[in-house]
Parts: sequence; C-alpha cells; structure tokens
Amino acid sequence: MASQKATAEAKSNIAFIKYWGNRNNALRIPLNDNLSMNLDHAFTTTTVAFDAQINADQIVIGENEAQGAARDRVIAHLDRVRAIAKIETRARVQSQNNFPMGAGIASSASAFAALSLAATRAAGLELSERDLSMLARLGSGSACRSIPGGFVEWIAGHGGNASYAYSLAAPAHWDLRDVIAIVSAEEKKVGSSDGHSIAHTSPFLLTRQNNLPARFHRVRHAIRARDLALLGPAIEEDAVELHLIAMTSRPPIFYWSPGMVRVIDAARAWRADGLAVYFTLDAGPNVHLICESKDADQVASRAREIADVQQVIVNAPGDAARLIEAHLF
Ligand code: DP6
Repeated sequence: MASQKATAEAKSNIAFIKYWGNRNNALRIPLNDNLSMNLDHAFTTTTVAFDAQINADQIVIGENEAQGAARDRVIAHLDRVRAIAKIETRARVQSQNNFPMGAGIASSASAFAALSLAATRAAGLELSERDLSMLARLGSGSACRSIPGGFVEWIAGHGGNASYAYSLAAPAHWDLRDVIAIVSAEEKKVGSSDGHSIAHTSPFLLTRQNNLPARFHRVRHAIRARDLALLGPAIEEDAVELHLIAMTSRPPIFYWSPGMVRVIDAARAWRADGLAVYFTLDAGPNVHLICESKDADQVASRAREIADVQQVIVNAPGDAARLIEAHLF
C-alpha cells in the first residue's frame, strides 16, 4: 500500500426528523427514515496516516490522547477500514472540532464522517458517497448524514447495505439557518448509543412509529418547497417526541434542563410576536433555532440576551464531507 496521509473535514448536522432507536444496534440500522441539514459552522477536521513503523493505533482528539470507550470506538472504525483495504497497518489519527464536544451538536456525526473519509483515502481506497455513508453509519448512525451535502435523507433500509444517506437538496437550495443556543458545553451524561438501545422500552415508541410516516413526508415536502411555516411545527413535534421517548424509556433519560426550557419558551414568544423561528433539539441541552437567513441576526441577538445562553453559533446549510490539504500533523 502506498503510504498516505489524508485529511478530511465533515460538517455536523441537525436532524429535522430524528433518528432515535435502532432496528439493529450493531449495524446501526435505524427504526425510521430520517432527515437533516448539515451545519457549515460546526465541523470536525481529521488527519489519518497509516504508518508501518507503529504497532498500535495512536489517536489524539482535541489536545489529548483518546482513552477508554472513545478510543475503542475509533479503533473499531479503523478496523473496518483495514478490513476493506485488506491491510493490518496501524494508524495515527488526529481530530479536532471547532465546537464543544458532547454538547448536543452531534460531534459523533462529524467525527465519524471525517474519520471515514480520511481513513479510507489514507488506506488508498476511493469509496462512492453511498458506500462511504454506510461505513460512517457503522461508526455513528448520524454520521452517515454528514457525508452528503446540504439537506440529507437517511433511508433506514432493511439491511446493512441498504441503509445509507443521500442529498435531497444542495446547500444553496434554501437559505435556512440553524442558530444554536449553547446552554451548556458540558459532556452529556447519557450517550445517544445508550438511548437508542433502550428506546423500545418506552410505551410511546409505537405511537411515534405511527406518527412518523406522515410527518416525514411533510418535512421532506417542506424542504423541497422551502416552506418554513410547514417545516417548523413538524420539527418541533419531532424533537419533543424524541425527548418523550427518552424520558419514558427504562431507565429514563432526561436531557432537558431549566435553561433549555427557558430558551424554548423565549422562541415561542418571539414567534407569537411575528418572528418566524422554530426550535429543535438533539440528545443534549442546547436549543437549535431554525429560521430563514433574513431573520438570523435578530434570532441570534435575542438568543444572546438570554442569561442561560453561553454562546450562539449561526449555521447555514453545510456542504458534503471533503478532503482538505491542511493536515493536522
Ligand atoms: C438525537 O448518531 O449520535 O442526535 O449511532 O449511537 O452514534 P449513535 O447515535 P447518534 O444519534 C443521534 C441522535 C440524535 C438524533 C439525530 O441526529 O437524528
């Protein structure tokens, strides 16, 4: 194998129809089709080099050598790449986010998307977008949606080779904004993987399954038609429903915090006042305020005035994962 170093940048994404619960946990086949938008100001950059001189993978995330479960999860992903490339060589990996980790900005999505692209290229492989999204999915489900650009649909599929993401519309299709109000930058206490694995214990999961097809079509149509008044109520419903499942799982998971509820209340009050803004949530404490670009400054400045909000990150639709020249080592 030609010794290669590759660096990739992948955007995080915010789901409009959420992925919560798997049909197959090991293969990360989700219970339902879901939809997201990539975020141009929340991304991970990862450099990978396979190096015949080392006998163990070396993984640095941010400033620190990765430890424990986070390290094992990256090694498991490198093993998938090694299996495809039919190599045994260990790798040096360095990764950094431009946003706080574990704070509900779906850092695993951009992380495993960037790792998948950088590692396959460093191993001399050139996968199609579809195959790359399926590889990223095995690392973290939502990562498959950070491979294509813009507005992205993840087809749940019924087998490991039928569950992948593709771009429904390019970033330029709709000048939407996700104004992220960071309420807490602390790492969340219960990871998404644990949440997915107990979603079936919620007595309301069946209700969600019944609600989803109609809502999914509404959201997809709203994106195609650039119709915020149609999109907004549907994404709010879906976010609340995800948290309803989490809170009623056994054991229950509470991602909600008083600060988060205050931001939601504020957004609803602004809307009652004529500002077209809708909220969505991830499995974390932050609030994603969705609006059109013309209203983004207004939404951001109002969000900054809320005492609970530590930081505001304004995102336009982000592009696909891509290779870049600026290596991290
Ligand atoms: C609430 O993709 O982080 O953000 O596959 O276990 O890594 P794993 O889970 P992950 O779950 C994302 C959950 C979510 C909703 C979403 O992004 O669709």
